[in-house]
Amino acid sequence: MRIVDMKEFYITTAIDYANGAPHLGHAYEKVLADTIVRFKRMEGISSHFLTGLDEHGQKVQQNAQKMGVSPQECCDQVAELFQGLCKELNISNDDYIRTTQPRHIKIVQELLQKLYDSGDIYKADYNGYYSVRQEQFVQDKDRNPDGTWPELFGEVIEITESNYFFRLAKHQDWLRQYLEEHPGFIYPEHRQKNVIEFLKEPISDLCISRPKERLSWGIELPFDTNFVTYVWFDALTNYYSASLEKGCWPADIHVIGKDILVPPHAVYWPIMLHACGLELPKMILAHGWWLSRGAKVSKTKTAADDNAPKEKTAIELMREYGVDVFRYYVMRNMSVGEDSDYAEELFMISQRQLANDLGNMVNRTLNMITKYCGGVVPSVVVEEELESKLKETWEHAKTQYFGLAKTFQFNMALQELWVFVAGLNRYINDRAPWKLAKSEDVKDRARLETSLAFSAEGLRLAAVALAPVMPTIAEKIQTLFGLPVAANVFAGNLDWSAVLAGKSVAAGAKLFPRPETVDSVPQKK
Ligand code: ME8
Ligand code: MG
Repeated sequence: MRIVDMKEFYITTAIDYANGAPHLGHAYEKVLADTIVRFKRMEGISSHFLTGLDEHGQKVQQNAQKMGVSPQECCDQVAELFQGLCKELNISNDDYIRTTQPRHIKIVQELLQKLYDSGDIYKADYNGYYSVRQEQFVQDKDRNPDGTWPELFGEVIEITESNYFFRLAKHQDWLRQYLEEHPGFIYPEHRQKNVIEFLKEPISDLCISRPKERLSWGIELPFDTNFVTYVWFDALTNYYSASLEKGCWPADIHVIGKDILVPPHAVYWPIMLHACGLELPKMILAHGWWLSRGAKVSKTKTAADDNAPKEKTAIELMREYGVDVFRYYVMRNMSVGEDSDYAEELFMISQRQLANDLGNMVNRTLNMITKYCGGVVPSVVVEEELESKLKETWEHAKTQYFGLAKTFQFNMALQELWVFVAGLNRYINDRAPWKLAKSEDVKDRARLETSLAFSAEGLRLAAVALAPVMPTIAEKIQTLFGLPVAANVFAGNLDWSAVLAGKSVAAGAKLFPRPETVDSVPQKK
């Protein structure tokens, strides 16, 4: 094979606001990006995975004030929470950027200076309405029909300020044309059409500065020390600033939520890059929202909603049931791009699905290998129709699964893989090794050994395929069947093989235990 100087596959998530504890939305986005990058690595593609924390801006300054600490101390505490969550979720990020790091600040200032020098940034007086919550100026056209401001803006005040502006309007036609010529730049496709529609109306230039007397917690403008940088200009730059040491720009995929697509990621960011003469990312993947009783899961909701019945949060359930059940749950129950309702009952259904279909099959197979074959995986002796049918089921499921994963349809991919897992269960029931074991016939002994070899191999294949979604479980299953801990999960290991023959297996283990609290505490009705 010729090694071409191929750029690494570079994937990012949004960087989370350092103004509160992580919730399901943050956890999901990381699991989604992690699953995508693990599928890539499985193909042998080397990759770079970035996530991080958005530490500047009004919200962080306000949160720090509330906590009675300095903004940096507040960020340090929040960073620990988010990085801890990444670990718990088994996120394989290669880097974690914090926007207060010198490596980032330096690049934000370089880009600002460049745009200032080229005339893309200018100073002007501005009188207008300002949303404190959204940290943005709002216009009369944003008002409700009755003249009030939509709730999402919070308190809206009128201010006059001298500020710096970035020429967005100048690049509007270029962006619209770019989007029209690059279908697939935004996933899902219908969102790209929305952006094109959005760009049919004239857009205003973007105010990229905040006077220090109003906001001090930010990156100083290199050409005017009375101002700090608007947090979105600062935050978006993270994808680029963090890539420089690695030299992996442009990004292949920015994974973000739909709420931050228009305008930040689909309008500001491409225009910023274009104006700086930098390449655009290859794709922006905008996922939908996790909802709870129809409302978006969010920091403000979880903190303030004291009257809501006390339910376990998704993060608490993840800790109880284990990370793999959580990862499986979010990937199986969300169609990427759409919204999905989160419910504890559904979470338990996932747990049961895993325990009954997969965990149980692993245990039965291990127990029978121990009982009938001295704890050593037997070799295939005779292949009959049931065996060739099982192999066919695998080949079909494999093609479907990886094909769907390539187009981010992970929920459907998992359904397809479950066709195979169900096929395995059916196979062992049809073969009934416990009956074959009672027979004196040598043919039945051959069938018995073959059936256990097939079951073990089928489980190994399922485990390898599931590794991007459930990395820990995949590893556990492989070790139970006697493979080394770091058994590689490469696409090459997805062919029906005899690697397990002769391997000593471990005793059965509870792969998906139900937390004791759930089993023993009587349900309050
Ligand atoms: O927006 N369901 O930070 P953030 C799914 N700092 N995803 C959700 C969600 C939900 N209920 N709630 C939030 C920011 N998210 C900025 C980003 S990027 C240069 C700067 C997603 O902490 C949200 O869509 O509010 C975003 O992608 C990510 O979590 C961080 O949200
Ligand atoms: Mg948000």
